[in-house]
Parts: sequence; structure tokens; C-alpha cells
Amino acid sequence: MERKVVIFDHPLIQHKLSILRNVETSTKDFRELVNEISMLMMFEATRDLPMETVKVETPCGIAECKQLAGRKLAFVPILRAGLGMVDGCLKMVPSARVGHIGLYRDETTHTPVEYYCKLPKDIDKRDVYVVDPMLATGGSAVDAISQIKLRNPRKICFMCMIAAPEGLEVLKKAHPDVDIYCAALDEKLNEDCYIIPGLGDAGDRIFGTK
Ligand code: PRP
Ligand code: URA
Repeated sequence: MERKVVIFDHPLIQHKLSILRNVETSTKDFRELVNEISMLMMFEATRDLPMETVKVETPCGIAECKQLAGRKLAFVPILRAGLGMVDGCLKMVPSARVGHIGLYRDETTHTPVEYYCKLPKDIDKRDVYVVDPMLATGGSAVDAISQIKLRNPRKICFMCMIAAPEGLEVLKKAHPDVDIYCAALDEKLNEDCYIIPGLGDAGDRIFGTK
């Protein structure tokens, strides 16, 4: 099956994203919006999960229903900012496991530096959703996914709020088998590799560190 690259045009996602981008939005609202958008994106990103038919006894008879066919999921946020997306994802799939990959961008080279990696033991039996609000140069996402691939997961998807065209191309080329979901595709990167117009530093805005 051909891999998916989805840029969301849903009105609820676009509306919430417009508030998220606003420099006046408070830390509290920013956090809530990141969770809400993640929830809506996860709803769509799980569209192809396999189903099975089951019979359910209702108070009035037997209903033939569809249920998820036991597919196991894992969410892997890229620390720190990816943490902001986890609660929203778990609201959609509460039974998912959560792994963590710690990466930060070196301020001068803009390349990712890994400082932590803890993944579920049975990740080889799971579909993995790597989550991070920002896809800028693509370095962090590419490295995180390469790390996860060493553990042979069944499938990998990447989910972000805002992507730069440069980062999207880098990720598509490095990992042609990974489905990609973005709430918005922005214009470009600036000389500091920040997304323009973007929303600023996602980690700082989620955790109120600036
Ligand atoms: C941000 C963001 C991504 C990365 C994207 O994290 O959350 O992980 O930058 O940039 P890239 O596509 O150019 O690699 P940052 O390094 O600022 O760390 P933080 O989440 O700890 O704030
Ligand atoms: N990381 C962020 O948090 N924002 C950007 O615009 C680029 C990288």
C-alpha cells in the first residue's frame, strides 16, 4: 500500500491551530489546544485500523458489531514538546503504550542530539505513532524514527502540528514507508531553522519556559 501524507483541512483543526499560533495565547490554552488537536488528528490517523465482526447481546436482541481487531498501538513523543501531544492521543486510544525519545536540536548546528530512549518491550508487535508538534529541518523526526526502526515495529506513522516543506521532504525521502500526518504545511524555515510563520518554540510554549 502506498504511504500516506495527510495535511488536515478539517475546520475544527484549522480553527484551533489559528489560536495555537497566536503569540497572545497563554501557556494553559496552548497546552489544551495541543491536546485537542492531537485528539482530532489521532481520530483520522487510526482510520485504517483493522476491524472484526462480533455479536453483542443488547437488551433487545443480538447486534452484529465491528470492533478493533486487536491491533496494538504505541505512542512515542519526541521530548520535550512531543509530550504535549500524548494525553490527546491517549484519549482516543487509552490502552496504547507510551515510549519516549529524548532529542534536542543543537542551537548552532540545528542537528538533533539524543539523550534518552525508552520504548515498550513488545514494540515489534505494535503500530507506532511518533508525535512531535514541529517538523522543521526534519532531523529530529528522521533520527527518532531510525532509532525506533532498529526495534522492528509493525508500522510507523509520524504526526505533527506544523511542518516546513524542507522538513517534510527530508522525512519523506529518509523514511518512504512512514505515513505522515500534519495539521498544517507552512511556508519555509528561517535562518535559525524556525518554521515561518509557525508558532514559535513549541516546547517553550507548552511548558512556559520562555
Ligand atoms: C523542537 C521540536 C522538534 C524539533 C524540530 O524541539 O519539538 O523536536 O525542534 O526541529 P527539526 O525538525 O529541525 O529537528 P527542540 O529541539 O526545540 O527541543 P524541545 O522539544 O526540548 O524544546
Ligand atoms: N522547533 C520549534 O519548536 N519550532 C520551530 O519553528 C522549529 C523547531
